[in-house]
Amino acid sequence: MTVRAHKVRATRGERPPALASLLVLHASELLTLGGTPGPRTREAASELGLVEDGAVYTEGDRIVDVGPTSEVLSRHPRASVQLDATGKVVMPGFVDPHTHPVFAGSREHEVEWKSQGLTYSEIAARGGGILQTVRATRDATEAALAQDGADRLRAMAALGTTTVEAKSGYGLRTVDELKILRAIAGAGRIAGLDVVPTFLGAHAIPSEFDGRPEAFVDLVAGEMLEAVLSDRLASFCDVFVDGGYFSADQARRILTKARDAGLRPKVHADELSDAGGSALAADVHAVSADHLNHASPEGVEAMSREGVIAVLLPATSLASHLPFADGRRLVAAGVPVAIGTDFNPNTWCESMQLVIALACHHDGLLPAEAITAATINAAHAIGRERDVGSLESGKLADLLILDIPSWRHLGYRMGGNAVETVVKRGRVFDRRRLPE
Ligand code: NIG
Ligand code: FE
Repeated sequence: MTVRAHKVRATRGERPPALASLLVLHASELLTLGGTPGPRTREAASELGLVEDGAVYTEGDRIVDVGPTSEVLSRHPRASVQLDATGKVVMPGFVDPHTHPVFAGSREHEVEWKSQGLTYSEIAARGGGILQTVRATRDATEAALAQDGADRLRAMAALGTTTVEAKSGYGLRTVDELKILRAIAGAGRIAGLDVVPTFLGAHAIPSEFDGRPEAFVDLVAGEMLEAVLSDRLASFCDVFVDGGYFSADQARRILTKARDAGLRPKVHADELSDAGGSALAADVHAVSADHLNHASPEGVEAMSREGVIAVLLPATSLASHLPFADGRRLVAAGVPVAIGTDFNPNTWCESMQLVIALACHHDGLLPAEAITAATINAAHAIGRERDVGSLESGKLADLLILDIPSWRHLGYRMGGNAVETVVKRGRVFDRRRLPE
C-alpha cells in the first residue's frame, strides 16, 4: 500500500484570511497623519494628527472610521476582530519610497574594503559594486529572483513597511531588465505587499558598453524603454546621475522620453558628488530627487520651486561613509522631505525604524518630520498618496500597532523592532505577541 502525503505544504504566497471588519481601539497615541492634501512642507511637515485614546475601524481592505475611541465605538460598536492598543502607538504602515530589492548574490566582502577606507567608486573600480551584482543577476532565473525579493519584502513588513517602491537596474540588458521588473511584481504578490515598480535601466554602464556610454543611453531610451512600456512593467523611470555613471544631459534624454511616454521621472541625485542631479530633477519635473548628500544651494532652490520631493537615504550614508543629507536645509527651503531605506546589496537595510532614527540624528529632521517623511510624504514620492501614508477613511487599512509608550520613541530607539502588529489591507499580517 502506498502512503500518500496528505499534508499539502503551504505555498509561500498563502495569507491569513481577510477580516470582514477590524477595530483597533484605545491606542494611547493614534497618529493619523491626516491633514492637508499634498506633500507636507515646513510647519505642516511636523503635523502627526495625534489623537489620544484613539481607534480605527476597517471593513475589508479599507479604513472606514478613525478618531477618539468613544466616538468610533459609538458608530461601530462591533467588529469581527478587536485589537486593544492600550499603552501603545497606532500609526499608518511605513511607506518605503526607494529600494532595490531584486538582485542575485550579495556583497558582504565589500565591508572589509570599506573598513580599510575604500570609497564607493574605488570599490566599483576593484570589480565590486553594481556591476558585480549585475553579473550574478543576469545568471539568475526570474523565479529565484522573485522568491529572494519576497523574502526581503517580508523582512521589511515585519519591521512595519506595508508599501515599497522597487527599482530594476541590475540587468542592464533589455531581457534582464524585463526579467527583474517581472520578478519585482512576483515578489510583491508572494509577500503580499503593495510594490510600486521603477525602471532603472540607467543604473550603471555595463562592461560591453565600455567607452561607448552614448550607445548605452540610446539603448535605454530606445529599445529598453519601449519594452518596459509595452509590457506595462513600471510606473516610474529613474537614472543614477553621478561621476562615473550618467551625466545630467544623458539623464535628461532618458527621462524626457520616459515622461512623454507616461512614466514619471525620478533621479538618483547628488549622492557621491554634486553632478547637477537635483537641478535636473527640477528641470524634468521629477516627482522626487533621491540621496542629495551633495546637493547645491541652486539645486535645492530649484526643487523647492518645482515641488520636487527630496527622498533622503541616511542608511546609505552609513554604509558608504558619505556625508548625510541636510534635511534641515531642505525643510527650511520649503522642499517636501521623504525618507527611505535604499535597500540594496551595498546598503542591506530593511528597517524604516532605523532610518527614522538616522534621519533625526544625522539628517537634522525633527522626530515628527521624520515620521511624516516615512509615511505621507513617502506616499506622495511614489504616487500612492490616495491609498496609503495616512489613516483616513477610504484609504487602505495598512496600520501598525507599536509597543512603545509614545511616538517619540521612534526616533530614539535604534536597531530594534517596536512593531507588535502589522495590518495590511485589513488583514492581520504579522503579529509578534498574541493577546493573553
Ligand atoms: O542607491 N546609487 C546607486 N544605486 C544604489 C546602490 C546600488 C549598489 O551599490 O548596488 C544606491 O545607493
Ligand atoms: Fe538607490
